[in-house]
Amino acid sequence: MKQNIILAVETSCDETSAAVVVNGRRILSNIISSQVPTHQKFGGVVPEIASRKHIENVIPVIDQALKEAGTTMAEVDAIGVTYGPGLVGALLVGVATAKALAFALNKPLIGVNHLEGHIFANFLAHEELKPPFVALVVSGGHTSLIHLKDYNELELLGQTRDDAAGEAFDKIARVMNFPYPGGPHIDKAAKEGNPNAIAFPRAFAGQEGENKFAFSFSGLKSAVLNYLNTAAQHGDAVCVPDVAASFQAAVVGVLVEKAIAAANHVGVKQLVIAGGVAANSYLQTELAAAAEQNDIALFYPPPVLCTDNAAMIACRAHYQYLAQDFADLHLNALPTLKLGRG
Ligand code: KG4
Ligand code: ZN
Repeated sequence: MKQNIILAVETSCDETSAAVVVNGRRILSNIISSQVPTHQKFGGVVPEIASRKHIENVIPVIDQALKEAGTTMAEVDAIGVTYGPGLVGALLVGVATAKALAFALNKPLIGVNHLEGHIFANFLAHEELKPPFVALVVSGGHTSLIHLKDYNELELLGQTRDDAAGEAFDKIARVMNFPYPGGPHIDKAAKEGNPNAIAFPRAFAGQEGENKFAFSFSGLKSAVLNYLNTAAQHGDAVCVPDVAASFQAAVVGVLVEKAIAAANHVGVKQLVIAGGVAANSYLQTELAAAAEQNDIALFYPPPVLCTDNAAMIACRAHYQYLAQDFADLHLNALPTLKLGRG
């Protein structure tokens, strides 16, 4: 089979990334220019600054990705780009750049859904992995359970009704004075704490019917804030590791229960985790134990492929390439893009 070389660009949030991937599975380069230090002083991503940084970085990052891959634009078969969901101004930089390259070089253009990219990161990390499986996508913006029936056939089983899991981690970390993004800091602090110290609420846990695969984290966030405020008012000392561990256990408990229930409901024996929160060590160990009990194989990517990167976008684009799912120059940034084409 002829080799298929995809160049992909990802600018949906605060990482400017470009990657070159062969046949959807072999990463030749995956350059990630993080803006985290820039946004850290504001405690979160400032969309206008993110867009400006993407404009400065996108061409140098693409140049570096091609150079590191030892390839040229002429050798690339198609250009993949994230067109949603994400910050509109940030997405527009990647989309405009990819369209300009596709037009100037007369290459096919492929519009990629960022969430699907997160799921496909698992194909880069696990050569043996093939559909069908259930994917738990847990990122800063999303918490969803998806049935990936085939490479180009996805069904949404359920999602959060309010905050995303990563958003909850970041907000709780912020009030506990950890730097942005807070997820990894909570993960670390929780290792020294007792996950059963404080009983925080677990919304929709054990529910059947329309809430079986639904999530909600806003009540949990308020409960942790109330706990911290009450302690401060009473002058009580707070055990930060216990709060971190108990909060994390409440999030992870619901994620594990519903991910296993979804795999059993659909009748698949493979489960994957995707998105930034997939890097959470407690989620990985708790889900691994539950999966083993249910005779389900669990997959998750290494940390660098959990958080935003263009290699996962190139992998997703490769399978769209095989399905001849190309975009034209009308491709636009869609900040609220849903799963599947739209
Ligand atoms: O997928 P991602 O890089 O960006 C989005 O598409 O949103 O996810 C970023 C999110 C942030 O909320 C970050 O705090 C969280 O992933 N995260 C973690 C961990 N590493 C990253 N959350 C919990 N534990 C971690 N180890
Ligand atoms: Zn992401």
